[in-house]
Amino acid sequence: MPETVTLIPGDGIGPEITASVVRILEAAGAQLQWEEQIAGETALKQVGDPLPKATIDSIKKNRLALKGPLSTPSGTGFRSINVALRQEFELYANVRPVRTLVVGGRYEDIDLVLVRENTEGLYSGVEHYIGIGSDPRAAAESVMLVTRFGVNRILRYAFEYAVKHGRKKVTLAHKANILKYTQGLFLDMGREIAKEYEGKVEFEDRIIDATAMLLVMDPYRFDVIVCENMFGDILSDQIAGLVGGLGLAPGANIGENAAIFEAVHGSAPDIAGKGVANPSALLMAAVMMLDHLGQKEPAQRIRTALEATIRENDSLTPDLKGSGTTQTFTDAVVRRLGSS
Ligand code: NAI
Repeated sequence: MPETVTLIPGDGIGPEITASVVRILEAAGAQLQWEEQIAGETALKQVGDPLPKATIDSIKKNRLALKGPLSTPSGTGFRSINVALRQEFELYANVRPVRTLVVGGRYEDIDLVLVRENTEGLYSGVEHYIGIGSDPRAAAESVMLVTRFGVNRILRYAFEYAVKHGRKKVTLAHKANILKYTQGLFLDMGREIAKEYEGKVEFEDRIIDATAMLLVMDPYRFDVIVCENMFGDILSDQIAGLVGGLGLAPGANIGENAAIFEAVHGSAPDIAGKGVANPSALLMAAVMMLDHLGQKEPAQRIRTALEATIRENDSLTPDLKGSGTTQTFTDAVVRRLGSS
């Protein structure tokens, strides 16, 4: 029986890369059927709501979605639909693996996983202006909400992920030297939980800024990194940079009752509609979804075809210094699937 998945093509380059990924999944024989839904700016324009009820209901029913990027206006306008979806479905773990695929890049043999807390911290969305005298926006305040429940859940996920995937070490990146309560809670619980995994998974903690520097100087010392929401958001783009940029970084948002797979990158309005977007990150997210569903064979076939296409420098898109297009790159992956 094919698995029904909610498919949200999204905004900007979303529809272009989604079409490519659907074509590759079909060519690989993935057992999936799609229920297409809209969200983000596209939905706002079409139905006046950036997160329509039909989209939420579809994800509730299928408990599984593949999502293209959604644009969020900066500073003003509607709140991030990505954040809203993570909160609506309590997708508490954001798992972002990166691995070197482009040889001859800045680093060889990178193989890291970032586990980011996805529902709390500064992205809880609890913020407001404070008026003073005649200035209604004299100050602004955001709340970094950290709960013992949420911290326990994400740290355990990171350790369990390490055990399940044969990873050696968990690094907890934090700022407990300055944020003694919110980040202190994260660090204290990390140290406690690490004791349960002694002998199985090594544990260390590092200040977030030092972690950022060490990731550039010596990324090989890291294996699984776990941190709160905003730190994770920033570090995940940084680790994507270690392996050739956002075009190669997939992500999974995992909760108890649903999972949403997506690329780390956004809707790339600067290249939308030009046919040059790299579909690899969304494709790798789709492969994570196949793994999650236990469809190991098509997952492995796509991985092999994608890696060969990139390694052999065949029709790469401009972000990977090639002169190919989304279409020619997709053709190249599908051709390899046909011959495997
Ligand atoms: P972005 O990730 O869309 O783009 C950053 C740079 O990377 C741009 O130069 C873009 O052309 C390039 N890029 C990104 N993906 C690419 C791909 N697949 N192939 C080739 N080049 C690619 O980040 P930006 O510009 O800061 O955000 C644009 C919009 O996306 C914003 O509205 C933002 O809120 C939204 N966004 C959505 C996310 C999501 O849906 N999960 C995640 C990040 C941003």
